[in-house]
Amino acid sequence: MPKKPEELRSHRWFGVNDLRSFGHRSRLKQIGYDREDFAGKPVIAIINTWSDINPCHTHLRARAEEVKRGVWQAGGFPVEMPAISLAETYQKPSTMLYRNLLAMEVEELGRSYPVDGMVLLGGCDKTTPALLMGAISAGLPSVFVPAGPMLRGNLRGGYLGSGSDTWKYWDDLRAGLISERDWADVENGIARSFGTCMTMGTAATMMSVAEAMGMTLPGASSIPAPDSNHSRMASAAGRRIVEMVWEDLTPDRIITPRAVDNGIAVHQALGGSTNGIIHIIAIARRAGIPLGLDRFDEISRKVPVVANIRPSGAYLMEDFYYAGGLRALMSMLSPHLDLSCQTVAGIPLGEAIKGAQIWNEDVIRPLDRPVFPQGGTAILYGNLAPAGAVIKPSAAEPRLLKHRGPAIVFEGYDEMAEAVEREDLEVTPDHVLVLKNAGPLGGPGMPEWGMLPIPRKLVKAGVRDMLRISDARMSGTSYGACILHVAPEAYVGGPLALVRTGDMIDVDVDARRLHLDVPEEELARRRADWMPPPQRLPRGFGALYAAHVSQANEGCDFDFLLPGARLPEPEIH
Ligand code: FES
Ligand code: MG
Repeated sequence: MPKKPEELRSHRWFGVNDLRSFGHRSRLKQIGYDREDFAGKPVIAIINTWSDINPCHTHLRARAEEVKRGVWQAGGFPVEMPAISLAETYQKPSTMLYRNLLAMEVEELGRSYPVDGMVLLGGCDKTTPALLMGAISAGLPSVFVPAGPMLRGNLRGGYLGSGSDTWKYWDDLRAGLISERDWADVENGIARSFGTCMTMGTAATMMSVAEAMGMTLPGASSIPAPDSNHSRMASAAGRRIVEMVWEDLTPDRIITPRAVDNGIAVHQALGGSTNGIIHIIAIARRAGIPLGLDRFDEISRKVPVVANIRPSGAYLMEDFYYAGGLRALMSMLSPHLDLSCQTVAGIPLGEAIKGAQIWNEDVIRPLDRPVFPQGGTAILYGNLAPAGAVIKPSAAEPRLLKHRGPAIVFEGYDEMAEAVEREDLEVTPDHVLVLKNAGPLGGPGMPEWGMLPIPRKLVKAGVRDMLRISDARMSGTSYGACILHVAPEAYVGGPLALVRTGDMIDVDVDARRLHLDVPEEELARRRADWMPPPQRLPRGFGALYAAHVSQANEGCDFDFLLPGARLPEPEIH
């Protein structure tokens, strides 16, 4: 039974006949609306993470207007609401510090205003998980409109990929292989349209995962931001959200344990960003699903990487779209998906991907000719990471996936950044670079420092990969044998805090093992000597963050945001 107008949340603000609702109506009239514009209609909040300083979201002002067109067409009343813009490139120390702030903002906007449904606009890295987490907690019907990837980068007849090629050409510059002039051409060509990073970074990963979980219209996540199909998808989302309000299709009916598994399978098949693991755990736990790292390992052993996209592969998101996009990939991946899961489109996933075809089998590889035989990420455990660590084997040199070497330890980022440039650093390609104090609390905000630079003198000698271990994250566009998210982190006294230069470290990715080869008695001595570092964030949101954030293996959410009682409907006095 569809809802009746009197059952809308917004009815309590506008529909009843009392002094307060008189105020609410008269103030809409102040904006220039008539009763015909809003009376008895679902109020749709368009949550817009646009900002002048967010290049990935430049087009979201236009998209908001296109969503509004759809909402009006379907008989809803659109209201655009700005929310904090998390611009990966500019916000320091890391947008990760603010993911939960945006999630809180979405929840609070939805619950405190007369909102019946939400359209969520964004896509730059942390924005997608934040919007979904907020929508889950708000419990209101919601559609995610992914910002979409930017066009391919361009360099002298070839292509450039966000992030990945920045690191590659930076190393070439450090090694003296390219000129400053070449480097300037990379700067001019690598980001030439609005939209998110177009490699398989965190943005493309999480937009795709959101679609796989059923939170976007079919095919939405693969459309390049400047493509006119993107505008039409936005309008369609506006039309659809109005129907969803009448159907009362809330996120808890979409984000189920089976839908989360679909998200993980797609994450693995894409060779998705390691950051995605933290975000998917956080999203699932918001929905009351007790997801842990082991589920990623289980699914990754079954699902191969089939998306041939940088940094694990050769192509870019624009190529992926032309090759059929996520619908085509999911249709091939069907044996690993639960096609009965509900989507925001009001149809099950199976129907949403029906008829999708792969147009280029080099970009989207068949299951029996994958880019990498197992999923893109592996979970390692051992005395160095009792609560787990993460590696992306598909983006590492195979020789490093089973390795033993002596550690070179850096207590923090500045020490590391200085040391790797020194010509006299005693380092060989077999050393293991270890960075401490870059986790959720130590960073703070778990910055993307996990792809430690290869020491300059080795880069000059042609070395392009080494084993690196940290409690940091790394950009999804990064690559290399980087063991990340070591939990618990060094800053809270995890075993990583006890590693010293010269200690031997064993890694065996096949055996999922990460071992610090130091006797237990010696570790106990070091533990007794360990002093907790001083508090990093003395006031404001940072202090709230420090008091409540969880470790990487738990999703880095705040303890007080985990599911419990829903916020009560506000009193309207
Ligand atoms: Fe926004 Fe990469 S910087 S998606
Ligand atoms: Mg990124």
